[in-house]
Amino acid sequence: MDKVKVNAQPLVYPMPAFLIGANVEKRANFMTAAWSGIACGEPPMISVALRHPRYTLKGVEENMTFSVNVPSVDQAREVDYCGIVTGAKVDKVAVCKFKVFYGKLETAPMVQQCPINLECKVEHMLDLGSHVLVIGKIEEVYVSSNCFTGDHPDVKKIRPIMWTTLPSNVYQGLGPEVAKAFKVGLELK
Ligand SMILES: Cc1cc2nc3c(=O)[nH]c(=O)nc-3n(C[C@H](O)[C@H](O)[C@H](O)COP(=O)(O)O)c2cc1C
Repeated sequence: MDKVKVNAQPLVYPMPAFLIGANVEKRANFMTAAWSGIACGEPPMISVALRHPRYTLKGVEENMTFSVNVPSVDQAREVDYCGIVTGAKVDKVAVCKFKVFYGKLETAPMVQQCPINLECKVEHMLDLGSHVLVIGKIEEVYVSSNCFTGDHPDVKKIRPIMWTTLPSNVYQGLGPEVAKAFKVGLELK
């Protein structure tokens, strides 16, 4: 199969579109982040890559706490807005009509309307160049009660939003199921 080189760049799919929350000067602020992912299971940790000038990063450094909010496809407008304006100039919470709540860390603001919220304490901050990789220990997880089937969070009810990155540059939901995990591979075993 022929391959085309497209330069060294962080190109992977899918990319999430999370809302990262932090208190900046005691006021809740949220920014959109696609460069984020699970970092460890025990203890549970998540990473997010924030560019140096982000107002949100200022709040993360101030309190050493932050939140990762998983929005649903219904929140595309708010997700995009939080990714194109800075909290240094506007109150994004007011514009987006976010209902903000706090958990046990008390300084990591979370968005009630997002189906999943991870409340995190900063464990590491790595200055990697253009971005600071913030690695947070997940201290608590909140899931909207209407997003469960039985005892488990149900991704079909959560309906997470993804970002397709450039050049298509759109928000999308999950596609159709392809195969059963930890099962379809057995056909090759
Ligand atoms: C879809 C999308 C994904 C983004 N992902 C990131 C990211 O992973 N890291 C980052 O630093 N900025 C990212 N941004 C840009 C920030 O969200 C944007 O600069 C925002 O205005 C910063 O807000 P703040 O200054 O209030 O912190 C993204 C923007 C969009 C629209």
